[in-house]
Amino acid sequence: MSNNQPAKRRRLSDESVPRLREAELRKIQDLPVWEARKAVLEGICSNQVYVIVGETGSGKTTQIPKFLHQSRFGKSKIICTQPRRVAAIANATRVAKEMGCKLGGLVGYAVRFDDTSTHETKIRYVTDGLLLREAVADPLLQQYKVIIVDEAHERTLDTDALLGLLKRMQRLRKDEFHIVLMSATLDAGKYASFFPGAEIGLVQGRQHKVDVMYTKQAQESYLDAALTTVLQIHSKEAAGDILAFLTGQEEIDALCNLVKTRGAQTKGAHGQEKLQAVAIYAALPAEQQAQVFHPAPPGSRKVIFATNIAETALTIPGVRYVVDTGVVKQRSYQTGAGVDLLAVVPISKAQARQRSGRAGREAPGKTFRLYTEAEFEKLESSTTPEILRVNLAAAVLQLKALGISDIRAFDFVDQPPLPALVFVNGRTEQQKQAATQAKQRFRRPQGDHLTALAVLRAFLATGKGKRGEWCVQNCISGRAMQRCHRIFQQLCTLLQAMKLPLERLGDTQDPEPLQRALVCGLFLHAACRQSDGTFKVIGTGQEVSIHPSSVLSGSKPECIVFNELVFTRRNYARTVCNIQMSWLIELVPTYFTKHIPR
Ligand code: CDP
Ligand code: MG
Repeated sequence: MSNNQPAKRRRLSDESVPRLREAELRKIQDLPVWEARKAVLEGICSNQVYVIVGETGSGKTTQIPKFLHQSRFGKSKIICTQPRRVAAIANATRVAKEMGCKLGGLVGYAVRFDDTSTHETKIRYVTDGLLLREAVADPLLQQYKVIIVDEAHERTLDTDALLGLLKRMQRLRKDEFHIVLMSATLDAGKYASFFPGAEIGLVQGRQHKVDVMYTKQAQESYLDAALTTVLQIHSKEAAGDILAFLTGQEEIDALCNLVKTRGAQTKGAHGQEKLQAVAIYAALPAEQQAQVFHPAPPGSRKVIFATNIAETALTIPGVRYVVDTGVVKQRSYQTGAGVDLLAVVPISKAQARQRSGRAGREAPGKTFRLYTEAEFEKLESSTTPEILRVNLAAAVLQLKALGISDIRAFDFVDQPPLPALVFVNGRTEQQKQAATQAKQRFRRPQGDHLTALAVLRAFLATGKGKRGEWCVQNCISGRAMQRCHRIFQQLCTLLQAMKLPLERLGDTQDPEPLQRALVCGLFLHAACRQSDGTFKVIGTGQEVSIHPSSVLSGSKPECIVFNELVFTRRNYARTVCNIQMSWLIELVPTYFTKHIPR
């Protein structure tokens, strides 16, 4: 929030972060962790592994690394992991403001492709995936005296892999170092027993009363119900912002747009005339993420449409009302079917309680659950850890890179079921944000991978100074393209190191080698067209349709491979490539001679 308008987009770290005002700094000291400061520090210093449990918003993430820095660990490096990039960036920015330094000074963040930390940086917020990658070069993470694994209750795959790694480190590292696990739920007992000798400390949260309202009947569309409820709150309820939980970017963008039009016609209660909609989800650029933390302009009320990222990872001040759709988008792996599913599923009771809690941080609040009380009673009590439900291919590769050859013997908090350590399933990074219009212009009949490649080639063929403009003209996200470009460069470097020729790389005149490569990587996701126009996954017999976002939607390829299966109203294959059936037997004979009838 520098006074000068930046001429072009700058990294957050280039901006000097203005220190918070005195009054705000004093307010920080009212956070519940401040009361527990001494006990927290003692707990960490006197145990190698210390688990801190405290309600979301009590100050764990922003204050505890600071406490440590102000203690005898002042000269040491402290690292704090977050399950998502948004949280790493937002929390580092906040702490830099509290400490009056710029990002990359005393406080910094590092996420994939964006590392603001320097040799000065003592408090580093990183994604847990990034720390796992650092561990490839430095398996004992020697440079850190304190390693904080935050949001341990989220049990993401990376967090779980990291915990296993830390346990190994605990055995092997002989110098003084401390592991701190922070969690918003009492599941903490489980990690405490995972690490020998771990202690648990509780931070008593401050929670105001939250009234919970259920719908009388089950709702047909949670999106319609969410919009109606938000508008009703705006027109009937006292001052305070609204936090509404949806499942993903498309829904969030759609509702933000609807509120812009419908919200303008809805008169607010108590003089709050305008309703301002803001979005927060993981893929949102950092500059836009920052908007959710800005107070609504005077005379208006803010509604934040969020994914489950706002459940625990981010605390947004000012929220008095929560709208809970009761659903979340979750990745899961069907071991038997051999496919990854990205599906909208009911949340757990623990998640519903977390969501409600967000309304009572600063004052009494209200939660509107868009489901019936009977439906709530039927929810699972807690969410299944990711490690028990996803395809472990990427994590297995990462652990192998760390020199752990027998994954089955690796110590996980929850041991994954053996069949989930299936065959390694290659996957292409896919850029999601290319707009539909551009997709049509760059459309290649071979499908989405080749289309994406055509976009990248056109981008690279554009002069460096003109690329920003090119992206705008073609409705393509410049940020996504830059990321794509960096991955492309990274892969080129790897290929060069392996002395593989680059000249034929992604030749759009001759797409066959690429199509064949995709068959080799994605053969478990190969499907053939049936007479009714749907496709059947060859290995499993599962029925799928081509996702409407695909450039192949509406065309009739005989045989396809695809990146992932998404379940919404039906099973959809997303990111699809047209292939020849004969390639399957030619390239993966051991698998397909079994499955394709001759
Ligand atoms: O980690 P925990 O959920 O216990 O709390 P925290 O993330 O450290 O947040 C403590 C307080 O700092 C929140 O209640 C917010 O008021 C404030 N905060 C903020 O204003 N902006 C951020 N990016 C992070 C925290
Ligand atoms: Mg936190």
